[in-house]
Amino acid sequence: MDRLGRNTIVTDKDRSAPIGLFDSGIGGLSVYLHLAQQLPNEHYVYYADTLNVPYGDRDSHDIETLTLKAVEWLYQQGCKMVIIACNSASAYGLETARRCYPQLPIVGLVPALKPAVLASKSGHVAVLATKATLNGSLLNDVVVNVANPKGTVVAKYFDPKLVPWVESGMSEDDDTAQNLRHQLQVFVDEGVDQLVLGCTHYPFFKTFLLNEIIQKQLPIQIVDSGQAIAERVKQLLILNQLSAPLNDAEGPHDEKRQTSDKIRLPLTFHATKYSDKLGALVERLLGEETSLQYYSE
Ligand code: DGL
Repeated sequence: MDRLGRNTIVTDKDRSAPIGLFDSGIGGLSVYLHLAQQLPNEHYVYYADTLNVPYGDRDSHDIETLTLKAVEWLYQQGCKMVIIACNSASAYGLETARRCYPQLPIVGLVPALKPAVLASKSGHVAVLATKATLNGSLLNDVVVNVANPKGTVVAKYFDPKLVPWVESGMSEDDDTAQNLRHQLQVFVDEGVDQLVLGCTHYPFFKTFLLNEIIQKQLPIQIVDSGQAIAERVKQLLILNQLSAPLNDAEGPHDEKRQTSDKIRLPLTFHATKYSDKLGALVERLLGEETSLQYYSE
């Protein structure tokens, strides 16, 4: 038996178990959207630590403790795999979580600096992330091992207002939106041609940035890691023989939503602090094709 209580032989029950996702707030939903598209017949359970968001300027010990609490919660839900869909939590909690749950496949996030360095023509890239992520060794290992040998300059930028801005619905009249427009122009003026969104909250304002880029014809590209993570999860499921059986999507009719050509199972969403405003935002970010079940203790 392993820590999941499984025999070494993987059963259909193991394969039908949910995939757990964790973020300090709603940012990890940007990763969920990629997963739901690539792996539509998996069950997903999401843990949003909205009571403690933002994590980005907390100290490393705090982040590690909160991360272990979240992983334990998802483990108790019987998840077959856990994705720490938060760069800040991965920076300080991934290693310990893997040590504490050796049989549970745990995937962490690191800003997509490597593809940005490889794609850069100007040799100047920027990473937009939280202070925790920018100081963590997961990102700095990529700077040392990939950017430095190529002579690529990496600009690091943290705005503590960005995560609260996303959590509160991203009003474009807000000062934070104005600062972001300004910072984008600063990056371009400095010769940055690849901008890495190194926090899972940030892809939710990717369209806002792209509109700005198109309007002003700015020579800069936006990179994030959502797609790559979904591919990695798919590989790991196959490797561990844990992919959901194909007929899992054929549950009772009210348990699923039909999209153009895919069936998506409802996402189970748990927040450590829930409000109606949060519920409305989650529904807005996920779009109509996602059906949600709220879970509270
Ligand atoms: N989504 C988290 C990340 O990827 C946000 C961190 C925060 O709560 O500040 O880093």
